[in-house]
Amino acid sequence: MIKINGLTKKFGELVVFENINAHIKKGECIAVIGPSGTGKSIFFRTIAMLERPDRGNIFIDGTDITQKGVDLNRVHEKMGMVYQGFHLFSHLNILNNITLAPRLVRKKSKEEAEMKAMELLSLVGLTDKANSFPHELSGGQQQRIAIARSLAMEPEIILFDEPTSALDPTMTCEVLSIIRKLTKMGLTILIVTHEMHFAREISDRVFYMDEGGIYEEGTPDEIFDRPQKEKTKAFVKKLKVFQYEISSKSFDMVSMNAQIEVFCQKYNLGAKQVYSIQLFLEELIVVLFNKCYETTPPEIKFTIEYSDETNRISIYLIYLATDYNPFEYIDNQIDNLGMMLIRKMSEKSGHLYENGRNSIVIELKK
Ligand SMILES: Nc1ncnc2c1ncn2[C@@H]1O[C@H](COP(=O)(O)OP(=O)(O)OP(=O)(O)O)[C@@H](O)[C@H]1O
Ligand SMILES: [Mg+2]
Repeated sequence: MIKINGLTKKFGELVVFENINAHIKKGECIAVIGPSGTGKSIFFRTIAMLERPDRGNIFIDGTDITQKGVDLNRVHEKMGMVYQGFHLFSHLNILNNITLAPRLVRKKSKEEAEMKAMELLSLVGLTDKANSFPHELSGGQQQRIAIARSLAMEPEIILFDEPTSALDPTMTCEVLSIIRKLTKMGLTILIVTHEMHFAREISDRVFYMDEGGIYEEGTPDEIFDRPQKEKTKAFVKKLKVFQYEISSKSFDMVSMNAQIEVFCQKYNLGAKQVYSIQLFLEELIVVLFNKCYETTPPEIKFTIEYSDETNRISIYLIYLATDYNPFEYIDNQIDNLGMMLIRKMSEKSGHLYENGRNSIVIELKK
């Protein structure tokens, strides 16, 4: 689908990347990761021919789009791009934001374009916002509309450049769930992301960019668990991530807590933080056992992420069960202490349910 040969991009003296070669198959999802300034955004902009490469070729379905005379408008119809800052047209309502390009470029009738737009709004879960204006929507909702707008052109490839970096955890959760859906619809997706747990979960392959190119590539397991090259190792090591899976109610909670403690000590988290992570997870797991897994064995996976820079602790938890949001306060129910504690301890939280899968993101209070 996409074949990149010897791609080189410079700005004057600055070589952003040199001699990138890659082959991306139809339906593949590629996560692009790497330190700031290593050319991830420029790489995407060059693939979309928003930047002219200095050397090299980009073949999309066999057509070299770097050649003079290629109709770049046609290329951009095939290739959608969603950036960090969602640029919706502020003077148009949501429906018109989505139908504008299909009507102008694809010459679709108003009815046809609106029908498709409503389908897409349903996909991103925002049918009730069709007549709203962008400023009436949250950041996460706007980003979901930006995705719908890009899908309205029926692209075969979508490039996401840090689609969630400006969003808080709840909204990130929502946007990522839409992207997860798209990977299942057979679209070819390239995504630059700092959400490593997500990169790992959805991608077929990871490109780690550094040193002026794709420094190392591999499956998510290869890159995150067994990186071969020095800089990849250093990058992955910096991610303070702890993962754990629970598949039985009689799992060893003491061992889990010990592992969490080792993880925290390695990164100099204080005793108070260790205790609050452990307490939080213990309570949450017990609540989930009671609410979701009365008769079936649990299927719970969680990731603890700690950022050195911001000193923030995030917990991502996925559990396969019926729709259950532990953060939702149900008025007429005598609230149990565990749930109260969970809510009290989390600074921010988000829950999302789709197809038998609950995901929650929590930022713990410091
Ligand atoms: N228009 C430009 N003119 C000159 N240099 C540029 C231009 N755009 C980007 N650069 C430089 O190219 C390099 C790569 O930038 P790029 O934005 O692709 O990095 P990135 O990997 O996306 O970083 P981040 O993770 O911070 O988004 C940087 O050194 C940047 O300063
Ligand atoms: Mg960038």
